[in-house]
Amino acid sequence: MPSGRAVLLVTGAARGIGRAIADAALAAGDRVVAVDRDTADFGQSDRLLPLVCNVADPQAVATTVQQALAWAGRIDGLVNNAGIGRPAMIDRMTAAEWNEVLEVNLSGSFHMLQAVGRSMMEARRAGIGDFSPAIVNIASDAGRRGTVGQINYGAAKAGVIGLTMSAAREWARHGIRVNAVSFGVVATDMTAAIRTDRFRDTYLQQIPMGRFAEPADVVAPVLFLLSQGAAYITGQTLSVNGGYDIHA
Ligand code: NAI
Repeated sequence: MPSGRAVLLVTGAARGIGRAIADAALAAGDRVVAVDRDTADFGQSDRLLPLVCNVADPQAVATTVQQALAWAGRIDGLVNNAGIGRPAMIDRMTAAEWNEVLEVNLSGSFHMLQAVGRSMMEARRAGIGDFSPAIVNIASDAGRRGTVGQINYGAAKAGVIGLTMSAAREWARHGIRVNAVSFGVVATDMTAAIRTDRFRDTYLQQIPMGRFAEPADVVAPVLFLLSQGAAYITGQTLSVNGGYDIHA
C-alpha cells in the first residue's frame, strides 16, 4: 500500500492508537475510512470518511465496507485495531465478559478482514488500482505471553495471531499480505488503570526500555507493514513493545 495515494480503513479510529494511525495516514496524503462504534470529531477533510460501526456485528461491517467502497472505489489497506478489555480474575469472570471481548477483538477482526479481503480480491480481479493490498491486525503481548486478570483478552489476541497466519496463507495467492503487530503497554485510555501508582512500577520493571509506548511510537511499524517496503512480509507478528517479551 504505497503511502500518499492509497485508501486505508482503520477500525477503532475515534481515539487512542487507531486515531494516531488514521491521523498519520491522512497527513501522508492517503484517503482514510475511520470506523468506530463511537462518533468523534475528525475535523474537515475530503480525504476522510468517518463511519459509525460496531465491528462485532457482521451486518454492520458489511454495510460499512459497502459505504467505504462507494466513497473510495477500493480499499488498499485495513488496520483491524478496534478492541476492548473487560478485566476480571478467571474465577470471577462472567460468560458475558468472556463473550464480549471475544466478539469485539477476535470476531470483529474476522468480520472486517473477511469483508475487506473480499473487496480486495474483487478489485484485483477487476484490475482496479495498481496497489498491493495489505492487512494489519492489532494483537498484544497478552496473546503471546498471557496476562493476569484478562484471560478473555489474552485468548482473543492469541486468536488474532492465529487469524493472521491463516489469512496470510490463504490469501498470499491473491496478493494480499496479512500481518499482526503486538504491543506491550501503550499510553491510551485502555491502559489508564495499568499506569496508576498501584501497577506502574510492576509493568515498567518488565520493559527493558523502561517506559510505556506513546501512540506515536506504534504508528510507523503499522504503516511500514502496509507499505511496499514490506512487500515480502506476510503472516508475521511484529513486537512493538520496548522489549517487553524478551524480559527474563
Ligand atoms: P482505546 O480504548 O483507547 O481505543 C479503542 C477504540 O476502539 C475506541 O475508539 C473504541 O470506541 C473503539 N471500539 C471499541 N469497541 C468497538 C467496536 N465493537 N466497534 C468499533 N469500534 C470499537 O484503545 P487503544 O489502546 O487505542 O487500543 C487499540 C488496539 O490496540 C486494541 O485492539 C487494543 O487491544 C490494542 N492494544 C492496546 C495496547 C495498549 O497498551 N493500549 C496494548 C496491546 C494492544
